[in-house]
Amino acid sequence: MRNETILVVDDEQLIRWSLVERLRAEGYEAIEAENGAQALEKIHDGVDLVLLDYKLPDTDGVSVLRRIKEHDPDILVILLTAYATVETAVEAMKIGAYHFANKPFNLDDVARTVAQALETTRLRREVRQLRATQAQPYAFDRIVGESAEMDALRALLRRVASSPATTVLLTGESGTGKDLAAKVLHYNSDRANRPFMNITCSAIPDALLESELFGHERGAFTDARQQKRGLLESADGGTVFLDEIGEMVPGLQAKLLRFLEEKAFKRVGGAHDIRVDVRVIGATNRNLEEQVKAGRFREDLYYRLNVLPVALPPLRAHLEDVPTLVGFYIDLFNREFRKSVRGASLPALEALRAYRWPGNIREVRNAVERAMLLADGSWLEPHDFPILGLKPASSAPIGLPAEGVNLEDLERSLVVQALERSNGNQTRAAALLGLNRDQIRYRIEKFGLVKQGVAP
Ligand SMILES: Nc1ncnc2c1ncn2[C@@H]1O[C@H](COP(=O)(O)OP(=O)(O)O)[C@@H](O)[C@H]1O
Ligand SMILES: [Mg+2]
Repeated sequence: MRNETILVVDDEQLIRWSLVERLRAEGYEAIEAENGAQALEKIHDGVDLVLLDYKLPDTDGVSVLRRIKEHDPDILVILLTAYATVETAVEAMKIGAYHFANKPFNLDDVARTVAQALETTRLRREVRQLRATQAQPYAFDRIVGESAEMDALRALLRRVASSPATTVLLTGESGTGKDLAAKVLHYNSDRANRPFMNITCSAIPDALLESELFGHERGAFTDARQQKRGLLESADGGTVFLDEIGEMVPGLQAKLLRFLEEKAFKRVGGAHDIRVDVRVIGATNRNLEEQVKAGRFREDLYYRLNVLPVALPPLRAHLEDVPTLVGFYIDLFNREFRKSVRGASLPALEALRAYRWPGNIREVRNAVERAMLLADGSWLEPHDFPILGLKPASSAPIGLPAEGVNLEDLERSLVVQALERSNGNQTRAAALLGLNRDQIRYRIEKFGLVKQGVAP
């Protein structure tokens, strides 16, 4: 931790000197100013506490105090004065002086007051930080990345969060941050103090999904011994996140559409309408438009959901964020695993930036987690990331060995492997090699592979 900086303001050199000496002996940084103007200049150098003489040649201590507090209310000010009246003391305290010390002062007393004051702010700062992280685990800056894509995403989520919109659709490949975006939306909306509920539509049998969402009346079906409130009712005033909404069966889609349009629904087996105020956030990694065309997703529901679409880009569209994300997860896992990995080496970062990340940001998290569990150095190296070896980026072709290769042999071996892998199916083998059927037939003949019985 850096040493705290204390500014000593007094026109008497001897007083400045004795205070500065003492403060330095206590381990603080101490700087000085001999009048109000100088003091206000030095405030900008990052001062934690000011020992301020009440009587200055160019101005009085109270107006300097006022200016300091305007600049930064967190800076502590202890006023020193030889002739304090009760009125000046009261005024100074009102403006925010931490303490009033009478001149002539005892250096031990001043040192003790300074230490107490700094301890108080340290605690206050800690509490504030703790509160901030606890109240806001899903602040907008939890969405990491400085690329234009992530900037635009945060800006859009900001607008959507504070909008009155009750339906939002998140689209994006798996691992792009749809769950995260849903939580960020909820916790930054005026619904934040109400429940956030989520359900994955594909993970639950259809009949159960209906009663989970809408609830059921007693006796609605065989197992319904009790009346049950659904998620929508429990989340009243809050948000319901419907993950993989593209997997919902048509019957439920109709019921959901009615709810989105009329804010009303019936429990399973129920006769009367229930009204709740819920924001529904749907998410899908499928192309819903195609699902609509294929007749698997209701067009009217699609349009209703798509009023506010938020598209999460695949990571390969903003690879420049990879180093930041890697750093973010290194910090996270350092805390979690009590490690002190300092970062990923430059070659590692370069290779990670060239990788295509089919699993998107989730894959970054997993790759860093695995690397940190196994790595023993203080820097993560390329070999700590097996994905880099398993899937060379398309821009990095197979390396030429130092001793060279025989291209004919290599070609023959690759054709044989492709035929083996495709069980002799020439069309699939050709596809593996980027060839057409004629081209692979030519090579099968050239290498005499038919006679050897590799191909049927
Ligand atoms: N922009 C981002 N910054 C930091 N972490 C992210 C970001 N996007 C996603 N993540 C993290 O990546 C993982 C996968 O995200 P998730 O929201 O579950 O994706 P999805 O729901 O689209 O499959 C989670 O651990 C999430 O916290
Ligand atoms: Mg998800």
